[in-house]
Amino acid sequence: MKKVLLLVALVALMATPAFAYISGSAHDFSGLGWTANGQICVACHTPHGGSTTISDAPLWNHTETTTAYSQYVGGGTLTALDVAATPTGISALCLSCHDGTVAPDSFGGATGTATISAYANLNSDGMVNDHPISFTYDGSLATADGGLFDPTTTASGIVGSTGNIDADMLFGTGNTELECASCHDVHNGGNGGLGYPKLLVKSNANSALCLTCHNK
Ligand code: HEC
Ligand code: HEC
Ligand code: HEC
Ligand code: HEC
Repeated sequence: MKKVLLLVALVALMATPAFAYISGSAHDFSGLGWTANGQICVACHTPHGGSTTISDAPLWNHTETTTAYSQYVGGGTLTALDVAATPTGISALCLSCHDGTVAPDSFGGATGTATISAYANLNSDGMVNDHPISFTYDGSLATADGGLFDPTTTASGIVGSTGNIDADMLFGTGNTELECASCHDVHNGGNGGLGYPKLLVKSNANSALCLTCHNK
């Protein structure tokens, strides 16, 4: 009997990564009654008729935000010159729920009523006090700044990958754009599927996430 239990436990352990991605994470809305049959992906994606208004949007099904923001400018210390006034690309997808203006359950053309919790509403105090996003981070920026690693030659250190920062953490054409998803995995797939707190792409213990890009 003990052996059987051990086997069951082992099988459960081996199967864990497959079930530990988005299921059960903060982005698993299946228990909230938003859909008739507990679907997970539908709040964000659709197999047919996805939105084409935001570039890079992967078969997008969620109502998009139209809010204009001001981004972090710093005290004149920022080297990057092309920080988009309003976040673009896939960051705009995140802000469709995380700026607090569109109900998280507004998808598939329907207007929802759910609200995002205060802690997750980034725009409640404006976007100027958040890490800059939607700008080019490439070898030239690293050289000009002096305090950044070259993303085209520096390993991301993401568990299970031997890729560099550009391939693993940057987006857009040529993998040069820093976006919300540079630091967060919306599907909670970090750590080989076991996930990290706050849906981070890698552990931030000893500031390892920050030190991936910042040579400090
Ligand atoms: C909370 C919103 C959200 C949910 C729920 C979600 N996704 Fe995504 N998905 C995104 C965003 C945003 C991107 C683009 C950013 C990225 O690739 O990290 C994306 C990208 C993708 C991509 C293309 C890039 C890649 O990672 O391969 C695929 C495929 C995908 N999602 C599949 C799924 C499936 C299947 C589900 C359900 C099991 C799902 N997603 C649930 C938001 C979501
Ligand atoms: C469909 C709406 C939706 C989209 C799109 C979405 N999120 Fe979320 N996100 C949520 C909700 C809802 C929560 C849980 C907070 C709450 O309960 O109100 C959450 C939680 C989070 C958290 C906190 C996780 C935790 O464990 O506390 C992070 C980080 C996050 N989201 C990042 C992102 C990023 C980055 C993107 C885009 C790549 C994104 N989200 C896209 C709705 C969304
Ligand atoms: C440079 C890396 C980086 C970028 C870019 C980034 N985040 Fe985060 N984010 C983090 C880290 C690290 C934490 C965890 C902070 C903590 O635990 O105190 C976090 C926390 C969060 C939380 C949880 C807030 C809380 O107080 O628990 C949400 C929601 C979130 N981020 C959403 C986003 C969205 C949406 C974007 C893009 C608009 C974004 N993040 C861009 C690194 C980043
Ligand atoms: C994917 C790469 C990446 C990660 C991860 C990352 N950053 Fe950044 N960060 C950048 C880039 C690129 C800039 C723009 C630097 C510039 O142009 O001066 C930046 C800008 C900043 C700035 C503003 C600098 C200024 O001159 O005003 C601070 C502060 C900062 N990051 C802190 C952090 C912290 C703290 C973390 C971890 C939670 C983090 N970053 C994670 C790439 C990253």
